[in-house]
Amino acid sequence: MGFKEQIDYSRLPKHIAIIMDGNGRWAKGQGKVRIFGHEQGVLSVKDIVEGCVEAGIEYLTLYAFSTENWNRPKEEVDALMQILISTINRETETLNKNNIKLNAIGNIASLPQECIDDLNEAMAKTAHNVKCTLTLALSYSSKWEILEATKKIAAAVKDESLSIDDIDETLFSSKLTTVNLPDPELMIRTSGEHRISNYLLWQMAYTEFYFTDVLWPDFRRENLFEAIVDFQKRERRFGKISEQLN
Ligand code: IPE
Ligand code: IPE
Ligand code: MG
Repeated sequence: MGFKEQIDYSRLPKHIAIIMDGNGRWAKGQGKVRIFGHEQGVLSVKDIVEGCVEAGIEYLTLYAFSTENWNRPKEEVDALMQILISTINRETETLNKNNIKLNAIGNIASLPQECIDDLNEAMAKTAHNVKCTLTLALSYSSKWEILEATKKIAAAVKDESLSIDDIDETLFSSKLTTVNLPDPELMIRTSGEHRISNYLLWQMAYTEFYFTDVLWPDFRRENLFEAIVDFQKRERRFGKISEQLN
C-alpha cells in the first residue's frame, strides 16, 4: 500500500510549511553547478504543490529565499531571482487551473523590481482561487518579521490607537506577514539538516517537525504523503497528558 492510501483524510494538517533544502548538494552529486540544482528544484515544487492539492492540504508555505541567502555569491542570487521570475510567469495558468491562490511573505520590497511586478501580477490573477493557498517565503526571516511587527505595535501604542493591555497573541499574530494563514501543524525540512534557519519561529511554536535526508530535487509527492502519515501517528499533547486527550 502506498503512503497516499495510508493517509487519514479526516485528520489532515491544514497547513504544511517546507524548508526546501539540498539543491546545491544534489547538483554537486551530479557533477553539475549549484544553479542546475535550483532549476531541478522547481520540478519538485510543482510536484509538491500538485500533491498538496491532490491530498486536500489547504495551505502550503515554501521557504524559497531567506534574508540570509542574500549573502550567497551574486551569481547564485541572480540566478535564483531569474528562476523565481520565470517560474512565476510560467506557472500562473497552472495555478488557476488547480484553483490555487499565490501569496508571498517576507521583505518583498527588497526583491528586484521585475520580481515584485511579476509576483503582484500572479497574486492578482490567482486571488479568487480557494482550493489551496501557496505562500512563497521570499527574502524572509522570522526575526525580521517579528521586529517589523514589534515596530508596528510600538507605533500604535505611541499614537495611542492601541493600549499595552490589548497586546496579546492574537494581536501580535495579526501584525505578522502570515496574518491570513493558520499556524502550520507540520514542517518538513529536506536534505538532512536539523535546524529551523529563521523560519516561522512564532508560528511554529507547536508545529510537528519532520526531517528527511532526501534532497529537495528528489522530493516528490510520495515523500510528502509519507511525511503526512508520519505526522498522523504522533500525539499532539499541547502541554497536557495523554489521558486528557480525546
Ligand atoms: C535550498 O538549497 C535552496 C535555497 C536555499 C535557495 P541550497 O541551495 O541551500 O542547497 P545546499 O544546502 O547548499 O545543498
Ligand atoms: C534555508 O536554507 C533557506 C531556504 C530553504 C530558502 P539554507 O540552505 O539557506 O539554510 P542554512 O543556512 O544552511 O541553515
Ligand atoms: Mg541549504
